[in-house]
Amino acid sequence: MAFKMLAQHPECYSLLLQEHANIINNKRPGENLVLEDVKKMKYTWQAARESMRLFPPIFGSFRKAVAGIEYQRFTTPKGWKVLWTAYGTHYCGVYFQDPQRVDPSRFEEFVPPYVFLPFGGGPSVCAGYQLAKLNILIFVHYVVTRYNWSLIYPDESITMAPLPFPSQGMPVKISPKLFVKPHEDFFFYLIIFFVKIICFGFLLLS
Ligand code: HEM
Repeated sequence: MAFKMLAQHPECYSLLLQEHANIINNKRPGENLVLEDVKKMKYTWQAARESMRLFPPIFGSFRKAVAGIEYQRFTTPKGWKVLWTAYGTHYCGVYFQDPQRVDPSRFEEFVPPYVFLPFGGGPSVCAGYQLAKLNILIFVHYVVTRYNWSLIYPDESITMAPLPFPSQGMPVKISPKLFVKPHEDFFFYLIIFFVKIICFGFLLLS
């Protein structure tokens, strides 16, 4: 879903790409990512959160009332099951202004607890939250820095049965990217220069 969102919002994608280009430009060729690099992926995490706000991977879950609860004139008797859903707050204009609009930078603002819930909340909050975050950021980094990609069906609809899923499986066209860092340009052109001289020499000799 994050990639679908990025493909449909090139302005978001170019900001995200810039973030990863900056990270790469501060590293030696072939140097692995470290935690400090991941911490710099602030916009990428905002974009990932925005895609999970619009399409929560898990729409909600059940809780059992261990005691009777009175809330706003509604009574939940002890033992009843209550379904909480992420959509209730994710699309609520009180918490997210203009909730239908795609805007990763909205996460620059403080989000109150129990409002943004792709990973649940409270004592049963996702135990793998930090691991999932790390995986998402690292995956996005390598995809956007190493490949050019585009959606085959840009207007593909999303089905909800009950989890969000692209109706046609979201096929993408993908090809490796030749990424040359600015300070590598000199060596790159130097090699090309010598190759040209050698070829020219062979031409003269033949
Ligand atoms: C994008 C990825 C993920 C999403 C959206 C997600 C979402 C969630 C949600 C919504 C819950 C709470 C369910 C509830 O309150 O009833 C949950 C619980 C849990 N998740 Fe995740 N999860 C993700 C990745 C992971 C990973 C990578 C792991 C482990 C390696 C993990 C392990 C768990 C566990 C153990 C629980 C149960 C926690 C408990 O009940 O105490 N999750 N997850």
